[in-house]
Amino acid sequence: MTPVRTVAALCRQLDEWRVADNTIALVPTMGALHDGHLALVRAARERACRVVASLFVNPAQFAPGEDFDRYPRDETGDMAGLRAAGVDLVYAPGTEDMYPSGFATSVIPGGAALGLEADYREGFFSGVATVVLKLFMQTGADVAVFGEKDYQQLVVVKQMVRDLDLRIDIVPVATVREADGLAMSSRNAYLGAAERDRAAGLFRILMETRGVLGEGEPPEVAIRHASRRLEAAFDVVDYLSLRDPVTLGVVETRASAARLLSAVRLGSVRLIDNVAVTLPGGE
Ligand code: PAF
Repeated sequence: MTPVRTVAALCRQLDEWRVADNTIALVPTMGALHDGHLALVRAARERACRVVASLFVNPAQFAPGEDFDRYPRDETGDMAGLRAAGVDLVYAPGTEDMYPSGFATSVIPGGAALGLEADYREGFFSGVATVVLKLFMQTGADVAVFGEKDYQQLVVVKQMVRDLDLRIDIVPVATVREADGLAMSSRNAYLGAAERDRAAGLFRILMETRGVLGEGEPPEVAIRHASRRLEAAFDVVDYLSLRDPVTLGVVETRASAARLLSAVRLGSVRLIDNVAVTLPGGE
């Protein structure tokens, strides 16, 4: 299997599959794959005849000064992993193929794309929505799979699909974690040994907070207490917030389901994570 680099070559292969009535699942990635990505591939294989994985480090979703240049890249290793996982086609366009000279159209999502990550990563969701929409159009996939690790991204993609009447099903896949609970992420490669030990504290604090919320502790008390613990454990706490799991709006007082999301920093490394929360007494 060699990567397909251009939209024209991609369409040639996909057209053949469509003529044979094959359904297509897309797994969008930026490469530097880990077991979390392989779980996405497994979910894709269960839902369609053919699986296309994209490998593209999307410059449009990195703000100036972010880690675009040093983002981990390992196309050879990724190709081997994707082949072993049963992917049928790897689409790895160059930047000039994805954004040819003269490219001038972007998606600017509102709603769920406002706040949280957007407050710390300028242009991130516009960059994500634009490339994801392009990947949906280029592949014409029936299904696309996204990890819950980037929960706000998942909600923003679902919102875009709804708002633009896109004919594609979005399948969420649960976060895959290391043995100590740290959510798998390509950026974990940036963590030094001491930071790596501290990093698992994020999931631990989220889970303990989910526990007390489930037992009926008032959200403002639970969040205040957890924020203090995060501040003690990490160098910077960007946010800790309890949100509606579908809209990411403020949680209704009578809600039964919520999502607790957080982003923290350890030195120059930013960690994000989230957990589902069941609130007692909701409707
Ligand atoms: O989650 C990612 O890896 C990226 O944001 C995505 C969805 C592949 C778009 O570049």
